[in-house]
Order: sequence, then C-alpha cells, then structure tokens
Amino acid sequence: MAILDKHGVIERNVTLLAIFAFLVVTIGGIVQIAPLFWLENTIEDVEGMRPYTPLELTGRDIYIREGCYVCHSQMIRPMRDEVERYGDYSLAAESQYDHPFQWGSKRTGPDLARVGGRYSDDWHVDHMRNPQSVVPESVMPKYGFLENKMIDGKYVEDLISTHAFVGVPYTDEMIASAQADFKAQADPDSDYDGLIERYGEKVSVRNFDGAAGISEADALIAYLQMLGTLVDFSTFTADVSR
Ligand code: HEC
Repeated sequence: MAILDKHGVIERNVTLLAIFAFLVVTIGGIVQIAPLFWLENTIEDVEGMRPYTPLELTGRDIYIREGCYVCHSQMIRPMRDEVERYGDYSLAAESQYDHPFQWGSKRTGPDLARVGGRYSDDWHVDHMRNPQSVVPESVMPKYGFLENKMIDGKYVEDLISTHAFVGVPYTDEMIASAQADFKAQADPDSDYDGLIERYGEKVSVRNFDGAAGISEADALIAYLQMLGTLVDFSTFTADVSR
C-alpha cells in the first residue's frame, strides 16, 4: 500500500521521525493548552471559599515548614474508594488560595483535605504530642514542641500582603487588621466581631491548644480544623454547563 510505504520512509530516517514526532506533540500540546489562555476562568467559583484567616495562614506555613506534606496529601481524587474514605472529592476552587498548593502524591498518612471538624481540638493536641497514644500503630513523629513555641503574629501582616500580591483577594482592611485578627481568633474572650465580619460566620474562634498564649500548635490546629469545611457540600452542585 502506497501510504504505508511512505510511512516506511519516516520510520527508517531518525531525523525525519524526530521532526514529525515533534510536530505531532506540538499540535497536541497547543490544542490542550492554548484554550486555557482564552477562558475567562479555569476555576469554577464555589460558594463558601474565602481567603484563609491570618491564624490559619500562619498554621499553613508551619504545616509546610514541618514537612507534613511529605506524608499527607490534600486532594481527594474522584474515585469511589477515596470518596468513601475521605468524603467528597476535592474541587479546584478549594485550593485556589493555596500558594503553593498542597495536593501531594505521597500518603504515608491519610489525606487531610477534609480533616477539619473530624476530631476535637483536644484530640489534635494529644495526637501531635504523641500520635501513638491515640493511634498505637502510627508512624507519625511527635510535634509536641509546637505547643511551647509562642508566636505573636509580628510578621503576619507581611504574610497576608505577600499572598495578596500573588492574587489572593485580601482587602486593605484585612491586611491592616491582620495582627489583630490573628490574636482574636485564638482568644474566645476577645472582641472578634471584626474577624467574623471580614472572614465570615463560619470562622472558628477558640483556644485551640487549650493553653494560655498563642502557640504554633494553636495556629496549626486552627488550620487543620478549617480544612475541607469551607464549601457546604449539602448544597453544592457542580456547574456542568462548561
Ligand atoms: C512520617 C510521616 C508523617 C509525617 C511527617 C506527618 N504525619 Fe500525620 N500521620 C501520619 C500517619 C501514618 C498517620 C495515621 C496514623 C495516625 O493517625 O497517627 C497520620 C495521621 C495524621 C492525622 C489524622 C488524620 C486522620 O484522618 O485520622 C493528622 C491530623 C495529621 N497526621 C497531621 C499531621 C501534621 C499537621 C503533620 C506535620 C506537623 C504531620 N501529620 C506529619 C504520618 C505522618
């Protein structure tokens, strides 16, 4: 057959094969990638998503610093076994304010995308101090020292403005009150009306580690307890029109 004979020419000439293979991959790549530049938005907006509070964002930084992502992913794949174990699969919008994102691919421990509200604050304190005290077969290291590392949110305004700089919609007011909001969230006796006004009703204001002062454990637990709780899946319906 004539056409196959011609194909034989390409197969026997390495240079020609490389050129044609390159062309095919280029066309395929353009078809996949180029439309993304013209789409108004590649992430569907989802109700409930909000930027992280100053305390949560600080906790997130500690999560990254301690390398929790080495053992924990934060993305529930849309597969039945994952959804049955961890809950609704993760939406793109749920990590839209993550810089950098924490999807991960290594799971020595379970996925944490929906760990918020699954355990009490006390459970987290016990678990961080000594994971084996609550899960005897756990290989997770101890992080009790975080309770003793006190923080005052001195740099949290800079942290928030950096995230605003890369596109997280923090307002000037949120930036200006970052340190006050940071302190208010960890102290239920404080005046936290401003924090709620800026970040919404669902923000948890608690003494997360149960001890006086604000420690790194407070920030980390505030972050963990928020994970996966922002979108209300009892009312969420995916926009399948696009
Ligand atoms: C060496 C791997 C490893 C590292 C590092 C690690 N973990 Fe874990 N983690 C595990 C394992 C294994 C489990 C499951 C057993 C258990 O609950 O302790 C787990 C469980 C958890 C759970 C309970 C999840 C659930 O759904 O039951 C939380 C919360 C958690 N880890 C948070 C953290 C945080 C926060 C950090 C960083 C400060 C961290 N982990 C670092 C291995 C790790």
